Formats: sequence, C-alpha cells, structure tokens
Amino acid sequence: MHVAASDADRSYDVVVRAGVLAELPALMAAAAPAERYAIICDRNVAAHYGERVLRAARDATLTADLLVFEAGEAHKTRETWADLTDRMLERGYGRDSCVVALGGGVAGDLAGFVAATYMRGLPLIQAPTTLLAMIDAAVGGKTGVDTVAGKNLVGAFHPPRLVVADPLVLHTLPSAEVRAGLAEAIKHGAILDATYFDWIERSSQELLRLEPVAIQRLVARSVELKAAIVAQDPRESGCRAVLNFGHTVAHALELHTSWGLPHGFAVGIGMVAEAVAGELLHVTESGTADRLSGLLTRCRLPVSTGGVTVDAALAAMRLDKKARRSAARFTLLARVGACATAADGSWTHEVAEAVARTALRKVILDTHAV
Ligand SMILES: NC(=O)c1ccc[n+]([C@@H]2O[C@H](COP(=O)([O-])OP(=O)(O)OC[C@H]3O[C@@H](n4cnc5c(N)ncnc54)[C@H](O)[C@@H]3O)[C@@H](O)[C@H]2O)c1
Ligand SMILES: [Zn+2]
Repeated sequence: MHVAASDADRSYDVVVRAGVLAELPALMAAAAPAERYAIICDRNVAAHYGERVLRAARDATLTADLLVFEAGEAHKTRETWADLTDRMLERGYGRDSCVVALGGGVAGDLAGFVAATYMRGLPLIQAPTTLLAMIDAAVGGKTGVDTVAGKNLVGAFHPPRLVVADPLVLHTLPSAEVRAGLAEAIKHGAILDATYFDWIERSSQELLRLEPVAIQRLVARSVELKAAIVAQDPRESGCRAVLNFGHTVAHALELHTSWGLPHGFAVGIGMVAEAVAGELLHVTESGTADRLSGLLTRCRLPVSTGGVTVDAALAAMRLDKKARRSAARFTLLARVGACATAADGSWTHEVAEAVARTALRKVILDTHAV
C-alpha cells in the first residue's frame, strides 16, 4: 500500500506492506541513490533487525554500515548526535551519503537530526519499527533531540525521501508499545475521521492481535490523515495543532506522574480529559468523552491515572509552550471525527482553570491528594 505524503515543497512515498523490510535496500537505492548508507538504530532494534537489513543492503551491492546507539528516550540527546556524527566523520561519510533511520520514534528523531545537520543535510529514509513511529513520528518532517530544559527543543524540519513500514516487525514489539501507538491512531480518528474511529472500534481485537490486514489498514489511514494535515501546515503555524489533541494534558501528566506513564497512555488519558473539558464548555458533543474512554478501554489503554495531583498537573499546563497569559490551551473536538475552531479562528481554545480542574478530576484518581 502506498500513501503519498508531502512536507513543505517535497512529496514522498510511504510504503506499508507486510514483509517489505526485505525490500528496503532496493527501495533505498531507488529513492535516494547514494555512495554510502548510514543505517542508524538503537541496540534493541539492532539485535532484532540490524544484521538482516545490513546483509540485505550488502547483498544488493550497497555500501552500508550499522551505527548503533543505546535505546531509550534518555539517549535522544546532543551527546548521542555528536557520537553518531563523529563516527560518520571518522568513517569518511561524504555529502553523497544517505541516512536510514531504522527504529522507533527515538531513532527516527535522532537519525533525522543527524541527516538534517551532517554536512548541511543528507537525504533521509525512515524505516519505522514501532506503531507510534509508523503512524506518527516517521511522517511530518520533524527531527530533533531532547535537552535538560525539555523534550525536542533542538531540532530541524527534515522530511524523508521515503518511509518504509513493515507491520511484521511489530510482532517483536512489547504489547504496551503497540497499545501506546494505538492511542495515537484513535486520536487521528477522533480529530479527523469518524468512519475511521468507528472502524477502530469494530477492529480493536484484530488490531491488538496484530492481524496484518488490520494493522496495514490502520497505518495507511493514519499516515494519510497525518500527511494531509502536515501538507496544509508543514511548519506548524495553524491547523497542525489539531494533532495535539489530548497532548496538553498528556504532557502535564508525563511531567509529573510517578507512574512512569508511556506517552501514548498519557495521550489516551489526555484525550478523555480534553473531551470532558470540551463538553463542559458546550463545544464538544455530549457523550464524546464516554465514547473515547470506551474505545481506549477496549484497546486495553488506561483512562485515568494516579501518582499526580490535579494542582501539579494544572501548574504544568500553565507553563506549557502553548499556554497564553498562563491559561492552558486545549485542542477541542466538535464531535468524534471533527475539531472545533475557537472564536478567534485558532485551532486551540483557552480553557479556564475551573474547567481544566473539573476535567482533570475525572482522570486523576488520587482525589484526597488534590
Ligand atoms: N517527529 C515526530 O513528529 C514525532 C512524533 C511523535 C513522537 N516522536 C518521538 O518519538 C519518540 C517515541 O517513539 P517510540 O515510542 O517509537 O519509542 P522508541 O523509539 O524508544 O521505541 C520504543 C522501544 O521499542 C524498542 N523497539 C522499537 N522497535 C522495535 C521492534 N520492532 N521490536 C522490538 N523492540 C522494538 C526500542 O528499542 C525501544 O526500547 C519520542 O522521542 C517522541 O518525541 C516524534
Ligand atoms: Zn503524541
């Protein structure tokens, strides 16, 4: 299945097919002919797929190396970027090289930033291996690293030449990571496509079992939806904000909860809270928050959390990048499948503290700590 995506002035193919990883070298050579390929992946992905991809590349007579870094968000840093670029310089990578990001969103962002900056920019191929990276991180052109001051604060827009997603690799992914990715797909349905949301409701069990036809359809539709938004707003100055549905609350929970919530889990809970806020403001059709929680529960995703107080979450939201005059801003649904614009035409809505507090109380369990 091919989906065409475009960021800024360039369009690229997203190939989603079971078994396509075996064809990665041929696809790399066609989309980005290069003297040499730096295949960047973390240690876990290297153990599962590194040798296989490297051998296939060499069998296809490509010159390629595997550059491995330690897995985890903690390594999505300038230090790892420096180490990877130093290794490429030592090995004599020139401007006629290409970077291949093989892995989850961490590898995609990090290798993407290497590609954006090495010798002022090399072509990039994204080969995402987590559900989240397939439907979200690999498409849209954002690359970057974290700093002590916050996540993704140093980076660049650098769209790939090609995205290659093989649903079969998800079989080695821990189940929690699969479900975290599903939360972002549910978000795509909630903000943009009611039919897709209905289909995920009907297909949740096949999706949890990773049935290839269902996963392929999920990845392809999510990529189409995200790509359409990115094409309208490549530099995130307008409607791309709809992709942040659930994320204002999610970021606050991720920052403060001692429960170590994975991002996708926090997004699920955040979507419920933001739908409750929308209903309280009479912007969102009533019953929407319940429908969202029903689907998240069916996908074995949490709809509430402990380990954080409502006050701590509110304080974090006031400091959020999107906050204006210290008031939190949420992306609000009109109903399942459509977002609502604010009176000023903006895609985010200012939410009064009392409303945000009531919404957070619905998703934060530890009421006596409030
Ligand atoms: N650029 C963007 O637009 C964008 C969008 C969303 C998220 N992100 C970024 O993505 C990152 C999160 O991505 P993620 O959730 O994919 O995390 P990740 O890359 O850390 O992968 C999660 C874990 O799964 C392992 N893994 C990956 N693929 C595997 C496979 N097929 N089999 C077994 N194990 C595998 C990894 O080694 C890691 O331990 C964050 O840094 C976030 O900021 C970026
Ligand atoms: Zn997200």
